Amino acid sequence: MTTDHAARWAAVRASTPVTRDYIYVNAGFCGARTTAVGDAMKQRIDFEELHGPTTKPVMDERADLARRLRAATAQMMGADVEEIAITGNTTEGVNIGVNGIALKPGDGVVTTNIEHGGGMIPAYWTRRRYGTELTIVPIEHGNGSGEIVERFDQAINDTTKLVILSEISYATGQALPLAEITRLAHARGATVVVDGAQTGGHIPIDAHALGVDAYAIPAHKWLCGPEGLGMLYVRRDRIADLDPVKVSGRAAASYDFEGHFEAKRDDVTKFEVSTNSTPVVAGTLVAVEQYLESGPQAVWDRVRDLTRYAEQQFGAIPGVELTGGRTEATRSGLFFFALPGLDPAHVAAYLQGEAKVVCRSVRQVGSVRLSLHVYNTEAEVDRMAELVASVAAAGGVPEQYRVATGPEA
Ligand SMILES: Cc1ncc(COP(=O)(O)O)c(C=O)c1O
Repeated sequence: MTTDHAARWAAVRASTPVTRDYIYVNAGFCGARTTAVGDAMKQRIDFEELHGPTTKPVMDERADLARRLRAATAQMMGADVEEIAITGNTTEGVNIGVNGIALKPGDGVVTTNIEHGGGMIPAYWTRRRYGTELTIVPIEHGNGSGEIVERFDQAINDTTKLVILSEISYATGQALPLAEITRLAHARGATVVVDGAQTGGHIPIDAHALGVDAYAIPAHKWLCGPEGLGMLYVRRDRIADLDPVKVSGRAAASYDFEGHFEAKRDDVTKFEVSTNSTPVVAGTLVAVEQYLESGPQAVWDRVRDLTRYAEQQFGAIPGVELTGGRTEATRSGLFFFALPGLDPAHVAAYLQGEAKVVCRSVRQVGSVRLSLHVYNTEAEVDRMAELVASVAAAGGVPEQYRVATGPEA
């Protein structure tokens, strides 16, 4: 880490209030906001209150913020502005990609066993709705990029119409070799829809270089923006043949009230349904700008340094198993560990209750997940390792942390 980078991460940390009192390692669920993001939202709320939501200056700023958010997102995703739609969240974007394709019985759909419900259920739903043949690529956390590509190679064939996958898995933290998988899929005529819930603000994205057809990201996870907004990239030449799922006047090129209607074809705004929250747009814009200022590659390098460090510290604790991606090429800022025999939800509850460590458990893989972001430090990793070592030595957590666990978020 250069001195410049170290200064940048210290400044980000200093302007992220939650880091004062907590070890906040949960960006994979919802990232920690800087004061600048909150201030942008508050200023916009005040402006709307003072001038009314529909006066000209307020409306003008609304349009300007949306325009700037599209431009900043396009820059961040290696895309053109005309390829970016503003959505409500990642899952909405994934649904637009998946359900926009005309599928019929017997068409192949390929996904993986390490998807979140936000990608998995849309995949299952194609089987329920159209009678597609669903193939689930088995991926283990120790698999490297080569093995992952081989498994996709076996799963994708000439009947495959759709591949739905995360670029970074929420369940193992593995960064998948998306460009290679996309090349394979395209060579066999399939559309690639990417669940980028764990990638926007985390791994550098170059949508044009990746070649994917649709790529959805949220504002609220690694970008550390507010909840309630997502951005969807649709490759320019695919906009026309993806049919919008939910429609409004924005999906019409023209219409009247006597029966004339012409659908928008290649305008990405056809995927945007209706009104959204401008304070949320304002906060997201600042979050994207901050990320671009930090530098996507620098962020990616830093979070992987932290994971590497965590691997050394946690790997040395007797009784702790490392359960995330294990190769350099698949490494991300998501770090996983398990204490065999212990419920990871109880361990997560203990960490928060005893030491204000905010993380989550992922039941699908029986593990605790730490999302290591640029506002985190090696000292925090040391502290967490110390706590986990004490749990491992005691063989469990105190009774009050053995909480009932509900459905996974
Ligand atoms: C891989 C993945 N997909 C989708 C989601 C849901 O994201 P959103 O709330 O933006 O729809 C999550 C949230 O944890 C996730 O990790």
